[in-house]
Amino acid sequence: MAAQNTSQALLNDASRADIDRWVAKYPPEQKQSAVMAALRIAQEQNGGHLTRELMDAVAEYLEMAPIAVYEVATFYSMYEHKPVGKHKICVCTNISCLLRGSEEVMDHLEKKLGVKPGEVTADGKFSFKEVECLGACGHAPMMSVGTEYHENLTGEKIDAILDGLE
Ligand code: FES
Repeated sequence: MAAQNTSQALLNDASRADIDRWVAKYPPEQKQSAVMAALRIAQEQNGGHLTRELMDAVAEYLEMAPIAVYEVATFYSMYEHKPVGKHKICVCTNISCLLRGSEEVMDHLEKKLGVKPGEVTADGKFSFKEVECLGACGHAPMMSVGTEYHENLTGEKIDAILDGLE
């Protein structure tokens, strides 16, 4: 079947095995419940961002309408649609962080890294973007770098965090 060929060609064996583990957590007729995990796995396989073809492959693999996969992949900020740096920085600019200086955090990162939000530094090391609330409002302003949260940010603290990364 052509659909299987496309998803098999684009999702490697390790990714499909990983997706299968998630699919197995749900009743057989609800395999689409694994869509968030499947998109994360496809994104990791591709070095940090999704493509239209990969989203289509996930849709085929989970027997979903492609539009339903695009809706998930474009709603959540954890999914990327263009290349990101080795260290992906997400700056919360929601209300608590805004009131506590997230604009200064964004400005500081732009000056320090020499790129605009959504761009990758020339050495491929960093990219940064604005996101909605990451649930650490009591310690605003905050950013995540990969899976790590960094809170109560100041310019000096940001410099120390980024300078300490390989
Ligand atoms: Fe920034 Fe919630 S408003 S973490």
